[in-house]
Amino acid sequence: MVDMDTIVSLCKRRGFVFQSSEIYGGLASTYDYGPLGIEMKRNIRDSWWRTFINGRDDCVGIESAILMHPQVWVTSGHLASFSDPLVECRNCHRRFREDHLDDVSKCPECDGELTNPRQFNMMLKTFLGPIEDGANQVYLRPETAQGIFVNFQNVLNSTRRKLPFGIGQIGKSFRNEITVGNFIFRTREFEQMELEYFVKPGDDEVQHKMWINFCMDWFLGMGITPEKLRIRDHEREELSHYSKATSDIEYLFPWGWGELMGIANRTDFDLKAHSDATSTRLEYFDEETREHIVPYVIEPAIGVDRVLIINLIDAYTEEDTHTSDGKTEKRTVLKLHPSIAPVKVAVLPLSRNDLLRPKAQQVFDLIRKRFVTQYDDAQSIGRRYRRQDEIGTPLCITIDFQTVEQDDAVTIRDRDTMSQVRVPISDLLVSLQERLPQ
Ligand code: GAP
Repeated sequence: MVDMDTIVSLCKRRGFVFQSSEIYGGLASTYDYGPLGIEMKRNIRDSWWRTFINGRDDCVGIESAILMHPQVWVTSGHLASFSDPLVECRNCHRRFREDHLDDVSKCPECDGELTNPRQFNMMLKTFLGPIEDGANQVYLRPETAQGIFVNFQNVLNSTRRKLPFGIGQIGKSFRNEITVGNFIFRTREFEQMELEYFVKPGDDEVQHKMWINFCMDWFLGMGITPEKLRIRDHEREELSHYSKATSDIEYLFPWGWGELMGIANRTDFDLKAHSDATSTRLEYFDEETREHIVPYVIEPAIGVDRVLIINLIDAYTEEDTHTSDGKTEKRTVLKLHPSIAPVKVAVLPLSRNDLLRPKAQQVFDLIRKRFVTQYDDAQSIGRRYRRQDEIGTPLCITIDFQTVEQDDAVTIRDRDTMSQVRVPISDLLVSLQERLPQ
């Protein structure tokens, strides 16, 4: 399996991910996405939105504010319970999450004695307005879910949904994690894609299983290696304060199995708590039984950044290829699913030549309206193919002298098989569409 240093270096060299504020020495575990990284992120968000929201009859989306009334976090239990056990080394003063240590009796860095654990709340605070006192303190949300719960009645009233139905959103969340690391796997600022799926109490366990399978199918559909995915049910003592049952989908990272997403049965915990705290009825009226019910909630929750990193790790391939003069060369290929690949098509004139340029430009203009496309005429065609392989571009189009002088057709080269087919320019868009499934 590829190691993380190789992935981190590729990310920087080719413009996927950069260290944040790098010229100031960087800010620990904070990252910026470069031109290719942001295209990938957009593709991941689009894929999620298509699959979990627009592709279903029973789900709608919202976008709530990051800053919420501070009482929300009291009611949701985050102020009291959203904490991790923090221990500090009495010798080197490094801090660790106790539940991340293999041996809790000594410091993993210097073997020093550790303090007793104390609960450390992970919510980041800030102040609204010019006066920095407790009355103006607010939190940067640690999950997007609460923005959905507090809007439950607004969405229900404005859409007249019947149970079961889901409300989803994509947005930034913040956690003052004690231990961060493994590149973008665990950071203090990250992006979540969360669906709160409201069901009749009693239907929750069946729906929970349905959503675990649905999420697994999403990963398999984007080409993630099945053997590197597994489902792990939380032990009782691991469950979040709101959860009756949680199953994680885990991925086999270079450092071992790690959480990719969580699918929780949050019961009626959140709606009931907000209802009690605000004296607002957060309920559903069942026309059949003529009863008001508080729905249960199944919550598939995932981080965009984690989907991005598993795609890079999973797609990274090094293979030997044979050049036309019989030599063997190493080829680095990102075998990304076409829906996730940051650049879909590269237009490559055979050489930088005045005869080829106008036709190549015309083809580029035709394609870029539909697909994210790069134009490259620098260096040899072989090197340009390698550059596109390394960033995962599924298709390269070559314009040669035959295109201009004879057939008005181009060559489409497939990234994974390196096979080539000739296609008339008049059929090109249809042909590309067929080869680039969403
Ligand atoms: N609303 C439920 C919730 O937030 P979670 O398991 O704490 O549940 C859901 O988070 C997902 O968000 C995780 O499975 C992971 O993909 C992502 N995530 C959580 N903390 C993260 C962090 N510090 N950095 C990056 N992604 C994170």
